[in-house]
Amino acid sequence: MSYQAAKPLQIAPARTLSGTVSVPGDKSISHRALVLASLAVGESSISGLLEGDDVLATAAALRAMGAMIERGDDGTWRIRGVGVGGLLQPPGALDMGNSGTSTRLLAGLVASHPIHATFIGDASLSRRPMGRIIDPLSLMGADITASPGSRLPMMVGGGCPGVPIRYMLPVASAQVKSAILLAGLNTPGITRVIEPVATRDHSERMLTGFGAEIAIEETDRGRLIAITGEAELKPQHIVVPGDPSSAAFWAVAASIVPGAALTIRNVGLNPTRAGLFTALRMMGADITECDPRSVGGEPVADLLVRHASLTAVDVPPELAPSMIDEYPALFVAAAFAAGRSVARGAQELRVKESDRIATMAAALGKCGVTVEEFADGLAVTGSGGEAIAGGATVATHLDHRIAMAMTVAGLHARAAVTIDDAAPVATSYPDFFATLARLGGAAC
Ligand code: S3P
Repeated sequence: MSYQAAKPLQIAPARTLSGTVSVPGDKSISHRALVLASLAVGESSISGLLEGDDVLATAAALRAMGAMIERGDDGTWRIRGVGVGGLLQPPGALDMGNSGTSTRLLAGLVASHPIHATFIGDASLSRRPMGRIIDPLSLMGADITASPGSRLPMMVGGGCPGVPIRYMLPVASAQVKSAILLAGLNTPGITRVIEPVATRDHSERMLTGFGAEIAIEETDRGRLIAITGEAELKPQHIVVPGDPSSAAFWAVAASIVPGAALTIRNVGLNPTRAGLFTALRMMGADITECDPRSVGGEPVADLLVRHASLTAVDVPPELAPSMIDEYPALFVAAAFAAGRSVARGAQELRVKESDRIATMAAALGKCGVTVEEFADGLAVTGSGGEAIAGGATVATHLDHRIAMAMTVAGLHARAAVTIDDAAPVATSYPDFFATLARLGGAAC
């Protein structure tokens, strides 16, 4: 990975925030659209694709394995797929940058193709655990050599033909589920995954849309997903809805900045993703859903969010899978609520782009917020709507969502909050700071 200089940014407290924002395309859906289009026979198109670094890393890797991927001047992406089983040997290492989703999904693809690929990434990604995909993909016949601690760099040699497995997920992870289903696409027979707790289901929805044979059944051990291998995928036109994980920052910003009112357009509200909005409503947030509709097979609405007096919440642990990426934003909302909020059962936060429990505890603590750290979550004592102290430089540890969450916290602080490095925001929301300036906030 080439070295990228850190980009510190000072956030000025906002007088208020108002206007309309269209959030960029959903990151999870964008990755999957590129992957499945690259495996279809014929030309697919994608509109609304998130053009963030993570998704571009997926596109570059798929190109290196033979897919033709181009962006038209109108922003529509055209993809000519190689067909399931048709991936080519990449000429060099696949650079996944900061993206765990790219790594785990693409490792699943390579695992059942007769090719070898080396996956590399930045310092954050190189610390993240890959054992969770190495175990099932090895059972399917892949030959995988990782760095100590099951980390990147990692070499994956595909097992071809692969072996269909029946696998119970030991962690609630849509990336692991998807890696197995993608490996199952080119594996003879039926590959089965059981998830004890439902995680985001974009892979299942989109595989069905591309014509794969998928059966889903609720069992007493969880949700069983079965995919029939050696599938032929038919090209599709995909419209990517807006990312609820990006909308989360505006929903919290509007809730905490006095007098604020924001309309957030085109927000994906798949129930496996919408947990933050449930938690915010439990806190008394003022969120109105307008014009509910379906975009690309996913439920979508516009959200009108107005400033509100928030009260503390005990976040139900069963919401964790549907808001796993939104805890940094939730912790910020909790920092402005009346009372002590507690979020437990979220130990997966320890292995995201950063250890999000430790990183948020440190960042909020430096800004004068009282926090208590648990192995699986955080308790946050809120200000009851008053501005927090701020006046600190916070460490984001190459984590885009920490940078955006602490930017939002800085919008209602007595002294400016400085983000030590805003550059990683480009992985999921390249226009975040420009949008903030348009809505009335300022960063310098
Ligand atoms: C994702 C799944 C989640 C999430 C990540 C995107 C996906 O990760 O945190 O940002 O697109 O499948 P896990 O599968 O590790 O929970």
